[in-house]
Amino acid sequence: MNETASSTGNLFSLQSHILSEESRHPGASGDFSWIISAISLAGKAIAHRVRRARLENTLGEAGATNVQGELQQRMDVIANEILMRCLGSRASIAVLASEEEEEPTILRRGSEGGKYCVLFDPLDGSSTLDTNGAVGTIFTILRNDPLIESAERTVCQPGRKQIAAGYILYGPSTAFVITTGSGVDLFELDPFVGSFILVKQGIRIPTSKRVYSVNEAYTASFPHGYQEYLKWAHANDYSSRYIGSLCADVHRILIDGGVFMYPPTLSHPDGKLRLLYEANPMAMIVEQAGGSSICGTTPTLDVQPNKLHQRAPLILGSSDEVKRVADFL
Ligand code: AHG
Ligand code: MN
Ligand code: MN
Repeated sequence: MNETASSTGNLFSLQSHILSEESRHPGASGDFSWIISAISLAGKAIAHRVRRARLENTLGEAGATNVQGELQQRMDVIANEILMRCLGSRASIAVLASEEEEEPTILRRGSEGGKYCVLFDPLDGSSTLDTNGAVGTIFTILRNDPLIESAERTVCQPGRKQIAAGYILYGPSTAFVITTGSGVDLFELDPFVGSFILVKQGIRIPTSKRVYSVNEAYTASFPHGYQEYLKWAHANDYSSRYIGSLCADVHRILIDGGVFMYPPTLSHPDGKLRLLYEANPMAMIVEQAGGSSICGTTPTLDVQPNKLHQRAPLILGSSDEVKRVADFL
């Protein structure tokens, strides 16, 4: 992991990084860069609203339940609207899909220039906002297939087909993590410059780290293999870290290593996390950083989705640690 910040201050922004990446792909039209810049703009706007939520009294529940059957937070709705506005005006997008919207939004057909589909969880971990917990925005970019009529079927592509994935973590700093298939890069928002500045290129997850991350309250309803793994970890000097906000838990694993699990439970027999816009983008990031991600014993990125909001069990992190869990399954 090479640090790029220097003593005279580092001014290599996300914008210049994406444009230099684009120049490496001859024939790239710049459409893709426009989408990343729209997500970057939305991230800055969401960061501003998240940090002022208590002052602006926009915390708490929106009074509705979303398609997930979960109580929507007011900030979920605000973050979703910001992303829809920033992405809705980008000419190369065919379909937008959000955790907060039951149906995908069709912006334009392939014949009208719709080249990409963008899926997102506008505010992940939003139930921790009232207690000033770290929250995030998760996004993934897929190619549009103009031959497929239904928007939902178009976005139901295995994670291996993602052309980019990333998240923005609204923690003590605002971190922007992205992969376009050749490694994982970390940017930090410099509020005084107003840009995401490149601080680490080619992040590599440590291959092993004796830390696991799971909501142990549900242990009794985990499948037997997970229970056996946890018994083994308790007897082998493991530590436990669980924030309950996927972006924050994954970011810790990306930087320090360890293994994150959201197993099947009684209330969520397929796990709680959504495959298309939570598990898949995180799995691509983790694999691109040298870690691994599995759904049961199948690589997460090879699971064939059938529904936009389908859930999937998720185990991801340091390759040695994921293997140890898999051995118990
Ligand atoms: P979201 O806020 O987008 O619904 O996601 C919440 C998810 C994820 O962030 C986290 O890993 C998980 O919920 C925590 O679930 P438990 O509270 O059941 O542990
Ligand atoms: Mn989420
Ligand atoms: Mn969410």
